[in-house]
This record gives sequence, structure tokens and C-alpha cells, in this order.
Amino acid sequence: MAEEAEQEVTPRLTRSFHRRTRASLALATVALSAAALTGTAAAAPGSGEVTLTLKRGAESSLLRKGVKVTYSAKAGKTGATKRPARKGGNGVTQKVSLPVADVDLLTATVETGGALSFALKGEKATATDLQLKIGAVSTAISGKLGKEQLVLFRAKGAATVDAASIKLDGGKLSLTGAAADALREALGLAQLSDGKLGSADVDAKIDDAAPVPAPIQIDQGGLKPPHEPLVDPYAAQCPIPLGANPAFGQAPADPGPLPAEPTLTSPLAVADGPADWGFKSSFRGYVTGTQEPGSAGSISALEGATDNGGGSFRFSGDGEYVRQPSAGNDQLVLDGEGVLLFCKKAHSFHVVIKDPTVIVDGANSRIVASVGLNRAGTWGGFKRAAIAALDLTGLRPTYSADGKTATWTAVPAKLTADGAAVTGLYPAGTGLDPITVSAPVDSVPDLYAGTCAIGSTAPETASELPEAPLALPSLTGTSLAGGNVRWGTHTPLRNNTLAMNPTAGSLQTFEGATYDTPNTVFEYPESSGTYVEGAPGDPADDRLVLQAKGIALLCKPAHLHRYALGSPTVVIDGANSRLVIDMDLRVKGLIRPSVRSDLATLSMTGITPAVNGKTITWSAIPATLTQNGSEAFNGRYPAGTLLDPITVSATLP
Ligand code: HEM
Repeated sequence: MAEEAEQEVTPRLTRSFHRRTRASLALATVALSAAALTGTAAAAPGSGEVTLTLKRGAESSLLRKGVKVTYSAKAGKTGATKRPARKGGNGVTQKVSLPVADVDLLTATVETGGALSFALKGEKATATDLQLKIGAVSTAISGKLGKEQLVLFRAKGAATVDAASIKLDGGKLSLTGAAADALREALGLAQLSDGKLGSADVDAKIDDAAPVPAPIQIDQGGLKPPHEPLVDPYAAQCPIPLGANPAFGQAPADPGPLPAEPTLTSPLAVADGPADWGFKSSFRGYVTGTQEPGSAGSISALEGATDNGGGSFRFSGDGEYVRQPSAGNDQLVLDGEGVLLFCKKAHSFHVVIKDPTVIVDGANSRIVASVGLNRAGTWGGFKRAAIAALDLTGLRPTYSADGKTATWTAVPAKLTADGAAVTGLYPAGTGLDPITVSAPVDSVPDLYAGTCAIGSTAPETASELPEAPLALPSLTGTSLAGGNVRWGTHTPLRNNTLAMNPTAGSLQTFEGATYDTPNTVFEYPESSGTYVEGAPGDPADDRLVLQAKGIALLCKPAHLHRYALGSPTVVIDGANSRLVIDMDLRVKGLIRPSVRSDLATLSMTGITPAVNGKTITWSAIPATLTQNGSEAFNGRYPAGTLLDPITVSATLP
């Protein structure tokens, strides 16, 4: 009797499901309850898939730890292996799909076929017998890992269970503590925390016909397989009625393949680094503006993004960061999380910018984000692309007083060709809002630990930080073709560094600087500059800004300190003449990253440059330590201390 009930009730409900609307499901629910009352087992072969999207930037980032998560058809239920598993990724997210094997609507349980493998450098752990228990607000995903049956993941979010299917869209996926412990042990990881992992989607149906295999598709950050209708995830927040026919302009197009992320060498982990951005101020003005009565739209920060006010929104995320001796070369990959929804119902569109990854990597700096559009009621899905190019020219991060956070402020951004394609809003090259991004790390790296190991970790009082240098004069003149800055820093410090008291330290140079031993000066080669000739025939009023490169390191382990002075800029401008330079120091346990300041004033009284062919040389300019310079040395020398004189040569083209 029970057997008959199963054979009659379930297929009928399933077949008729495709013709039903959600509104008529009350009937199905009653019928299912009746089946439950008669004690019918309702597990039936099913189809569909369970997709786990792992995010590199998530709290518990398996991807960042290098753990490869893959689907394998070998273990687990047979019969499910005929369905293809969709895989894909772009480094920021990775998707793993498991085929649905059985669905039990009465207990809201889904069993998948196959197994999930977790692999790291030759170590491997496999979870089999994967089962989903769908709850009202959360789904537990359990499996057998080793010998133990564990709840491996939880996916928060309300699932829809109806007469023939179970669905969960974008459930917030996390790794359980038990699974984190088990994986840590099995894979030999020093650390793996539980917590947010990404998202989970469940799309399980009871089979009444042979399943149509889903085409394999590489994910581009949220695209659904083409056989599924695309559902606008923001329809509730910003409904756009179908069929409006406005002047739409350029239709969005597919971007090219995502460029590979840079491979960072020995990066530091960034946790919860903020990226503050507003996309484009004129677009915000347009969306929220009133072109016609009642046409004002809105901008919402969702899914973790927050509103800073003033047109700036914060996307925080985890990432990786490398500090470099020349601050301008620091690198960052920050996976920001969150959504900006630009809703302009009156013009029948919304634009969504989601999960921006900010990459700071010299000339390849960029913002990668998923962009989705609803135009006239049709949602086109998300496309992930490098939407903005960031111009780091002449920019460097500044560091917090504790040295742990690097911040790039107001980095200029431009729409890329891919950005123009996926947004369909503006042409490539259009200026966007500048972005400000920070990389907080746990401890301050000592960049010279390899060549100048300072043993002590005893604390040392930190002085005030010097103020940022004044703006350089903007000169209109001749761009330099060469030149250099020759400077011995401070003779007492140099002598002390080299003296056998009790053991000699060393003078080291990096990134193009050299040490001229007979003349006891460091030479920093010119990298750019401008020269302006003053009154004809009187070189005394000539002006110069010469930026040089290279680093001089005065290393004295025996006295537990080192000073690295890099990238000097010499300004020759009458009474405002000065030396601007980076200082990165370590004194005992105090490590202070590169801080740039107006270190010394240059006294031009009585200094007349010598002209030799195309080279103009100002020799032995007296240099006096400023208050900022004293702080740059962490108070080692008082303001007013006479430093070594500076010689600067500028070669004209
Ligand atoms: C009913 C349909 C629409 C109407 C009547 C309309 C009207 C307008 C008007 C009057 C402006 C100039 C606004 C200003 O300078 O303040 C404008 C600008 C703009 N519109 Fe629309 N629009 C429509 C649909 C769309 C759609 C579908 C999109 C793209 C999804 C779009 C994207 C833009 C953009 C990017 C600008 C330039 C904003 C800026 O200054 O940066 N518009 N539109």
C-alpha cells in the first residue's frame, strides 16, 4: 500500500510541477502532507546540483591557503557520475559543483553523488556521503571525512522547498570548527580557521525524466549556466518593469579573459583591509538626480559594503601584501566584498558593482569587479572584469604610526576597455573616482633583516612621526636627461657605523645607489627632474627639482640600529631649497617603515653653480637638519644639526 502511494503521488506532483505557478503550490503541500501521514518514504532519484563558491578573500580562506577543492565522481553514490560537474574560477572565487543523487522532500534532505577532495602539497582529505539537511534558515552540509561523519559546512539563507524541488540561492557558506580542525590535521596546515567561506547554491529536483546535462561553463563571477533563466538578484530592491523601451545607448558586451593576478613573493596576510570608492561621481549625481519630476534614483551599499558618506563606499576584504624597500613598489591584492546598487527606476535600469578586488602592482594596478545590469527589466547576469586601470605614477603608500598599515590615498582610476564593455555606460579611458585602499598587517616587516640583522627586540621609545613634505614647486622648464645627488649623509654616523666599536657595521646601497669610497659619499642617480634658468648670465637664481633613486643603508648591528635613506629629491629654489628623503629605520625593537619628509634645509647663500657643457653642478651646499628630519631619525639628532653638504648635478638634454 505504501509502495503504491509513493509511485502514484510523487510522479504526479513532479510532472505537474512544470505547469504550476508558485501560487498553486498550496495544493502540492497538502498532498505531500497526506503522503507523510500515510508514512510514505519520499526519497527519490533527483537531478540538479549543489554548487559551493569558495572565495579567496573569505575569513576561512581555503583558496588562500592553497588548498585545492575538487569534485570527484569516483567515490560516493554511483549513478550520479553521468552528470557533469561544473568547475571554474578566476583566482578570486572557485566553484565546485556536486551532482544531486537523491531528494527527500519530506525530510528536506538532498544527497549528492561523488566526493569532495581537499588537497594541499601531496596531502589529501576526501569527504564522501555528502548530505544536505535543509532547515528554515540554514542548511547543514555533512559528509564522512576520514572515519568521521561531520557537519562540514553551513549555508545560511532561506531555501525554497516546493512540490518537486529544493532551491537555495546564494546561501552564506561557512566552514564549521569541526571541519576546520579535521582538515588542518589531515592537510598538515599550521592554521585554518572556521568561518565565512563563500556561498552555496542548491538546485535539486525530483527526476521524472532523463536529466538534460547542463553545458559546462567557466564561471565569470556569478554567471548562471545558460539553460537557466537569469533571475535578477536585485529585483526586490530595485524593480524594473519588463519592456520599457528607453534610449539605452551602448549595450554591454562580454569582457576578455581576466588577466592573471600577480604572484606575490612571501606576502603578508591582510585582514579586513578597506577599499573606499564611489565608482564615478557624475554617475552618482545622475542616478540620484532629478532629470524629470520624480526621476531621482538611489544608491545602496549591500552585502557588506558600507556608506562612508560624501559619495564614498567601503568594501572591506582580506588579501595579500608585500612591503618593498622603495615604498612606491609595494604590492597588494585586496579582495573587497560588497555590492553597490545604482537604482534608476525612472530610466528603467540598475547597475550593480560587486566584490571589487584592488590590485596594486605598479603599471598593472587595477580594480577587478563583477558588474551586472538590468536594462528595461532584463538582467544580464554578472560579468567579472578588470574594470578600472589605476595610475600609481609618482604615488606611494603612507604608513600608520605603528607601521602596520600601508594606505594608498586617492589613486587615479580610469575605465578600461573591458570596463566599458561590461558596464555599457562610458567609453574606455573615462576618468572614474580615485580609490583609497589600505593594507593592515599583523606585524611590521624588517625589510633589511637579510642584510642587516638587528638582534635585540627590546622596545625603544618612538618619537613623533615627521610631517609629510611640502608640495614640490611645479617648475615649467627643461626636463633633465641625467644627473645625480652626492651626499655622505652625516659623517659622525657614517664613521660610527664603520668603527670597530666593538665591531664594524656596514654601508650598503640598493636600487641604483652606489658608495664612492674615496670621497665618502653615496651617489644617487637622477630619475626625473626639471631645471629653470633664472636671469640670463646669472646662474645663482636658477631653480631645480631633481628626483633621484636608490637607497643608502647605514647598518650597525653592534649598536642595534640601522638607517636606510632613499629616493632623495633636491629642491633648489632660493630660501625654500631643501632635501626631501625617505627614511626607513630600525632602533632595537622599533621598526619604522619608510617615511618621507623635508629632512634638511639647504643654504644657497654664496652657492653659484658651475656649468660644464650640458651639466650644471651645485657643489657642497650646506644642509641643516629640520625638526621633521630630527623626527625622521627618531630623535637621534636635534634639529639644527649640520649634516654633510650636498652636491647635485643636473644634465640637460
Ligand atoms: C528612460 C530612459 C532614460 C532616460 C530618459 C535617460 C535620460 C538621461 C539624461 C537626461 C541624462 C543627462 C543627465 C544629466 O546630465 O544630469 C542621462 C545621462 C546618462 N544616462 Fe540616461 N537615460 C535613460 C536611460 C539610461 C540607461 C538605460 C542607461 C544605462 C544603463 C543610462 C545611462 C546614462 C549615463 C551613464 C549617463 C551619463 C551620466 C554622467 O553624467 O556621468 N541612461 N540620461
